Amino acid sequence: MPVLIISCWVPPAPCLLTPRAHALRASSRSGVAAGRWPAAAAATTGTAAPAAETMMEWWPPVPQEQVDALRSLNGWVAENMLPLLTPVESAWQPYDYLPRSAEGAEAAFTEAVAELRAAAACLPDDVLVCLVGNMVTEEALPTYQSMGNRVDGVGDATGSSALPWARWIRGWTAEENRHGDLLNRYLYLTGRVDMRQVELTTHHLLRNGMEMLAPKSPYHSLIYGAFQERATFISHANTARLATQHGDRTLAKICGVIAADERRHEAGYTKVSAKLFGVDPDGMVRALADVMRGKVTMPGQLMSDGRGGGDTLFARFSAVAHRAGVYTASDYGDLVEHFVRRWRVAELAGGLSGEGRRAQEYVCGLAPKIRRMEELAQRRAARGEPGLARFSWIFDRTVVVG
Ligand SMILES: [Fe+2]
Ligand SMILES: [Fe+2]
Repeated sequence: MPVLIISCWVPPAPCLLTPRAHALRASSRSGVAAGRWPAAAAATTGTAAPAAETMMEWWPPVPQEQVDALRSLNGWVAENMLPLLTPVESAWQPYDYLPRSAEGAEAAFTEAVAELRAAAACLPDDVLVCLVGNMVTEEALPTYQSMGNRVDGVGDATGSSALPWARWIRGWTAEENRHGDLLNRYLYLTGRVDMRQVELTTHHLLRNGMEMLAPKSPYHSLIYGAFQERATFISHANTARLATQHGDRTLAKICGVIAADERRHEAGYTKVSAKLFGVDPDGMVRALADVMRGKVTMPGQLMSDGRGGGDTLFARFSAVAHRAGVYTASDYGDLVEHFVRRWRVAELAGGLSGEGRRAQEYVCGLAPKIRRMEELAQRRAARGEPGLARFSWIFDRTVVVG
């Protein structure tokens, strides 16, 4: 699962949600109890949630034609998406990349752990922070699976449904589950991080959950999935590169196999989104603009180590990832440009409403705007003094940011 799309570079613009939904989203952001109250708000702000009987959840209903469009693709999903999942028999498992702990091989295990620790001793703190942030985000997988099952027309209605969409969600989850496991065990063995603080952060993130722009909408969810999988691919691939630079070949392999998984998952969400652009170009281009205009909340956005403080933990982690080159604003601009080209958004002509044409224009002009804002941000950063961010994950040491 995806790590981060830095949304603060996206200029504010009118939202395509209905006024009612917009008001509810705004109220949830400001912590007002007028409608939806994210459970995470109380956890992260320390503000008490309203009494249970006054809470309600409301989102605009998903148009039936969108649900029908998704259901009509079941056969297509079976033919084009399910083959992207690796058969269990040939899939890698975390144990393949870690010291073998089986009984009878104690000496070899001890030696392998010593080698792993010696290589990891060379990793600088910024790489460790990026690894922990990525790992914690991967470990919140239960949140993402339940998110997938909440989407109209896609979800696994029974928990063991034989329908292709449901099989995709379960297969995707099973593959993703290895990512957090592998990174977690690697980090534990290195001894380089405060594992209890890391585990506590995962615990907080799972309790806090994640906010979605339009949680039941299949169009929004699939577009979001494509962006997030590509962002995660970039992030793990860049971490693999840094691991190689610092001489940790085990970590480079670990991040490499995870990145390859993200790449396959990206292919699935990208292909199905392309298919939907053919079926309903107006609905999809409006959803794409909506995802871009709305605040793209990240899967790990609500992470916390329980320490409070000024900037959120996620903001500090993002700043470190940006400076380390693991995931940058420039990557985000590239991502937008990539999908606009891949889905041939500029070439959409027939079947667009006025709103659809405005969405098309907005989306096609977005990448250059992001790049301009990035240049300005970099110039500002070059003029200012770099800051320091403290992380409990690395025993309260500080890392340079900005
Ligand atoms: Fe993923
Ligand atoms: Fe993942």
